[in-house]
Amino acid sequence: MAENNTQDHKLPDPFGRLDASDDALFYATPRKVTHIEQGAISALQHFYAENLPSGGEILDLMSSWRSHLPEGLGPVTGLGMNSEEMADNPQLDTFTVHNLNKMPLLPFEENAFDAVVCAVSVQYLEHPVHVFSEVQRVLRPNSPVIVSFSNRCFPTKAVNIWRYSTSSQHQDLVRMYLEKNAFHQVSTREITTRDDPMYIVSGVKPHE
Ligand SMILES: C[S@@+](CC[C@H](N)C(=O)[O-])C[C@H]1O[C@@H](n2cnc3c(N)ncnc32)[C@H](O)[C@@H]1O
Repeated sequence: MAENNTQDHKLPDPFGRLDASDDALFYATPRKVTHIEQGAISALQHFYAENLPSGGEILDLMSSWRSHLPEGLGPVTGLGMNSEEMADNPQLDTFTVHNLNKMPLLPFEENAFDAVVCAVSVQYLEHPVHVFSEVQRVLRPNSPVIVSFSNRCFPTKAVNIWRYSTSSQHQDLVRMYLEKNAFHQVSTREITTRDDPMYIVSGVKPHE
C-alpha cells in the first residue's frame, strides 16, 4: 500500500526557524553573557582596530551589552532587541530597540555611518538581503561593513539554512548577502585563535 507521507519530506523554508514566534518574546529577558570566548573576542577586537575608521560613526547592528570594539572608536549606535542589555553596554553612545525580522528597514538616515559591524548574530536574520541593502543605504560611500560569526548559536532562533550549513557554507552565504547588494571588496577570512572558530565577511559600500 502506498504511503502518503509527502508532508514529512517537505524541505523546510531556508529562512524559516524552529521558533517562529515574535523575537520580542525570546529577547525579553536580558542575557548578559558573552557569546564567544576571550580569544575570539581579542581576535575580533584586533580586526576592528585595523579595519574601522578612527573617530567615525559606527552602527553596532544586533547589539547587546558588549560590542567588542577597541577603545577610542565612535560615537557608536546600537540596534538590538533588549534595552536593558544595550543600556549596560559601555561602548554605546545611543541605542534603539528594533526588530529586524518584523521591519528590515533601518531607522536611520542614508549615509549616516562610517562603519557597520554585526557580531555573532547574522544567523538570526529572516530577511538578510533586505537588511544588508539597508546597511548599504545607511553607510557613507567607501565605508565598511564587518560581519563576524562563530559556530555557536541559539538553534531555535537561527534560520534553517544556517543550521544545516557548515562554517564554510556560512561564509559563502554571508558573502552572498553582501554581493547581492553590490558591496565592493567582499572578502572572507578566518580569525580563529585558540578558542572558538571565528570568521569575518566584510565589504565596502562603493563610491557613488
Ligand atoms: C548572540 S547575541 C549577540 C550580541 C552581540 N552582537 C555580541 O556580539 O555579543 C544576538 C543579538 O542579536 C539581536 N537580535 C536577535 N534577533 C534580532 C532581531 N530580530 N532584530 C534585531 N536584533 C536582533 C539580539 O538583540 C541579540 O543582542
